[in-house]
Amino acid sequence: MSCKMINVALPKGRLGEKVYSIFAKSGYECPSILENNRKLVFENEEAGVRYFWVKPSDVPIYVERGVADIGVAGKDILLEYDPDVYEMLDLKLGKCRMVIAGKSDYHEDPSRTLRVATKFVNITQNYFYSTGKNIDIIKLNGSIELAPLLGLSDVIVDIVETGTTLKENNLVILESILDISARLISNKSSFKFKYNGINKIISSLATVIGGKND
Ligand code: PRP
Repeated sequence: MSCKMINVALPKGRLGEKVYSIFAKSGYECPSILENNRKLVFENEEAGVRYFWVKPSDVPIYVERGVADIGVAGKDILLEYDPDVYEMLDLKLGKCRMVIAGKSDYHEDPSRTLRVATKFVNITQNYFYSTGKNIDIIKLNGSIELAPLLGLSDVIVDIVETGTTLKENNLVILESILDISARLISNKSSFKFKYNGINKIISSLATVIGGKND
């Protein structure tokens, strides 16, 4: 039935505001969302949507378990956690790159195992596995750029958006691993049981972002 509410997990923070604005332009406004900065659940009954603000890396968990029918997560998060969800649409927002970076005077020492600091253990492992290189992964949770500066690692695998963080810490890009952007994801059974509602949201979003989606 098309009258069922669609629960949407939005990533809290910079990306979330941009994402909300394309939902609003697509006909799914919920003005109170911009007024209240501690509240986490917002609803527009008429438009049939309920939004939750979720930590970006938790979006796939809410969607996979079905408490959110759809959500928005970066391709980095999807590749890292490999959730059992449908990836429906590239929102072409939150564009950035996953790169290998190191100190500007970095030279690889082939006699030692390369030490790589990152938040993205699986992406890093898969990438280096595909190159046949054996590495020592050091999992960090933030401020990854510190690791090579303090000698904790030789290089890092991290996200670069403007490049400012690397530049201000005298680090340079050694190699680009992948292009990232925000994706709309759907819970698999919600897509079946709330097909009309979800499909309507996806086609409205696709129109707003230029209809260039496959
Ligand atoms: C991300 C990323 C870089 C920074 C890149 O960090 O890990 O540190 O943004 O952006 P820039 O190229 O525009 O400078 P985030 O702000 O998510 O915080 P973190 O240190 O917790 O990873």
